Amino acid sequence: MKKYVSRRAVATKRSAIRELLKLTEEPDIISFAGGLPAPETFPHHELAEIAADELREHHENVLQYGLTEGSLTLRRAVVEWLQPLGLRLSVDQILVTTASQQGLDLVSKAFLDPDDVIFCEAPTYLAALQTFSSYQAERIGISMDEDGMNLDILEQQIAVARQEGKTLKAIYVIPDFQNPTGITMSLEKRGRLLEIARREELLVIEDSPYSQLRFAGEMIPAIWSLDTDGRVITLMTFSKVLSAGLRLGVLFASDSELMDVLVRMKQVSDLCTSKLTQHMAARYINEYGMDEHLRMVRACYRKKRDMMIAALERYMPQNEGITWTHPDGGLFIWVCLPDEIDTGKMFPRAIENRVAYVTGSEFYPNGGGKNAMRLSFSLNSEAKIDEGIRRLAKVVREELAAKRVGVSA
Ligand SMILES: Cc1ncc(COP(=O)(O)O)c(C=O)c1O
Repeated sequence: MKKYVSRRAVATKRSAIRELLKLTEEPDIISFAGGLPAPETFPHHELAEIAADELREHHENVLQYGLTEGSLTLRRAVVEWLQPLGLRLSVDQILVTTASQQGLDLVSKAFLDPDDVIFCEAPTYLAALQTFSSYQAERIGISMDEDGMNLDILEQQIAVARQEGKTLKAIYVIPDFQNPTGITMSLEKRGRLLEIARREELLVIEDSPYSQLRFAGEMIPAIWSLDTDGRVITLMTFSKVLSAGLRLGVLFASDSELMDVLVRMKQVSDLCTSKLTQHMAARYINEYGMDEHLRMVRACYRKKRDMMIAALERYMPQNEGITWTHPDGGLFIWVCLPDEIDTGKMFPRAIENRVAYVTGSEFYPNGGGKNAMRLSFSLNSEAKIDEGIRRLAKVVREELAAKRVGVSA
């Protein structure tokens, strides 16, 4: 049957995270693997009331097809919500998506031909890498500093790729509380990234699922708000701020030609996003307001981050060169173990000890991250975070001891 499979499908590998998520179904495993939002943050009573009312009173509208661009009600609500936060938008610069994963697919479908180059952070969001490769694009990973992508390396890599005669299209970044590292790109780097993109005539794909989840430090303007020539396309999603199950996101493009292409790509993907979910989100924003809700969500994640960092400090072996990031928002902490430890090889031992993480190498487009792992602090209770890190530290300690025996043997 292989002969029927397209080159695109062959290039698309199964997501390791999706496979790992299956483990979370085993009740005694404490999984820090999936980047799932905390269910206690879902405003389910309010959404239930809105949904019931929409279905009772407006069923002719919400059970019908809608505009490909998205419902005006939702786009207006998004403009009003984000305007005070410094994201200046007009309704026609917004395309509603079936969450950001579709945004990534549309952007890839619209702008990436086979062998085109897209630069991204290394490490970066695994499913973005999968999407780019499903369009047979070449993904070039650029290593990260504490304040985001290393732009000197980006410039070098752009020069190398140009010399090799490649077609360069875009730079993909997750500037706020990045998945998987939790790192935030500095304002200075956002400006410089945009200058590079302008000079090199590249699009910037700014993926921002976590920007509204800052629970410490100062807000940094989105790259979108620094853009003057319409080369930035920004993706936002309701997944981590309202509900992942609504499958709802918004894509911003200020250039009308780019927007037109994206709308056409969405048309062939799914005609339109569910009107019911769009109206649920719009009415939630209009009737309850995102500000108060987000205060609760941020407080929830802040507590969980604090608990995970405290547990790492308490349980992880000291003076072994183990490091972890201190994110100011989002859902993830990135842990680097000594070079001799391979978190992939360590994984079965972690499962034996009923704890799970995502191995660092999954997030690298061109290799690397063997000694790293991503921990998500969003899903588990504080007590489970503590217990899970205790288990993980035990596994790490045993792994370090085994390496030492191996070396001295
Ligand atoms: C960086 C990034 N982009 C996009 C997504 C996709 O999210 P969704 O499709 O739920 O909006 C995620 C989900 O974890 C993510 O971390």
